[in-house]
Amino acid sequence: MKTGGRIALPGDKSISHRALILGAISEGRSEVTGILRSADVRSTASVLRSLGVEISDLDAPVVSVEGTGRRGMRAPSADLDAGNSGTTTRLMAGVLAAQRFRARMVGDASLSRRPMGRISKPLTAMGAGFAFSHGDGLPMAISGGDLRGLTWRPEVASAQVKSAILLAGYCGDVPVEVHEPSATRDHTERMMRARGADVRVEGTSVSFLPGRAMPATPTAVPGDPSSAAFFAGLAALAESGEVELPGVCVNPGRVGAFSVLERMGARLRYDGLREDGGEPVATLYAAPAALRGVTIEPDEVPSLIDELPLLACVAARAEGETRVTGAAELRVKESDRIALVVANLRSVGAEAHELPDGFVVRGSGRPLAGSVVTRGDHRIAMAFGVLGAATGGDIAIDDPDCAGVSYPSFWAELAKVTR
Ligand code: S3P
Repeated sequence: MKTGGRIALPGDKSISHRALILGAISEGRSEVTGILRSADVRSTASVLRSLGVEISDLDAPVVSVEGTGRRGMRAPSADLDAGNSGTTTRLMAGVLAAQRFRARMVGDASLSRRPMGRISKPLTAMGAGFAFSHGDGLPMAISGGDLRGLTWRPEVASAQVKSAILLAGYCGDVPVEVHEPSATRDHTERMMRARGADVRVEGTSVSFLPGRAMPATPTAVPGDPSSAAFFAGLAALAESGEVELPGVCVNPGRVGAFSVLERMGARLRYDGLREDGGEPVATLYAAPAALRGVTIEPDEVPSLIDELPLLACVAARAEGETRVTGAAELRVKESDRIALVVANLRSVGAEAHELPDGFVVRGSGRPLAGSVVTRGDHRIAMAFGVLGAATGGDIAIDDPDCAGVSYPSFWAELAKVTR
């Protein structure tokens, strides 16, 4: 397979969710450009609209959000459906913890299996009420109200947990501190600070002190590095050519996969590095080279957690072994990504095995053919789409449309840059 061309990247998913949510709890009308138009972001918009927040058409070039302030949302008349989106559920739980009503969050089968104890525990300690029907999964009813301050040490490194606590602190007007086991993406901190909030970061500790209400602030959403990674991986696997990825967010908390691809031997280069809307942005160029297996260390994992299915597929074509540990979180993503990545690699003829908290893949140049089960997991579909597009791949994917959760135009872009 040869590659070549330029990809117009979709907006970053994490920043798109936050632009809507922060717009909703600020004062006045916020305008958002470059928002990701995907199923997950539509879930956040629809949950906010059910809470009385006016959001204009997501498909228009500029999206406006009418802020209702810290605690200005209204009780919903039906369940809040977060669809497939963990970010919608966990960040909105932080906001709902401070509203003076009860609301119930529901989601699809995959989301309903994901653990919510990690946010219900700190938010309960702040004074919110939580009720679950089974275990700590959705449906989850949240009774919001007056909150107290909190110092929390989450067991898992999770930007969603950190963000839920920061949002509850802001909406509840109380101080919070989060001490993370390792650093996670910092978009919430950056975006709150850009709105004048007193958010301080020291190493892996983040604190918020109450103060003025956040004013409406425009957001220009940069390109999603997690979406870019599929094309950087594709370029790494190609026989020749170069892919150009303009406007990608290169926040240090998000670029671990690019560093790993470089370590594997891929030729990556950044051009035109600049700061845009509080995030570092650049054009990324990616080109092929002979690939070798690498070790991915536990402390790198948060910066590439969503890219591990793709890296596993690239590893199936690298010389030698790739080993990932410290990634037990993969088991509670949209699917059990350790089990599903390994099972799918094996079913197309690659060598891979599970570890309790990661996996090992041994690469080869042999033909890889067969079918892949996605269980509705967008990143599994796209990772194996890349592997199938590479030379020697003949892979059928059971549900390619699930890519629409984060990257609706993925298959069209893939066809454009492969020949
Ligand atoms: C996200 C954080 C990560 C990531 C998810 C989006 C966010 O999850 O996997 O796709 O926007 O904060 P965790 O924070 O649970 O690790």
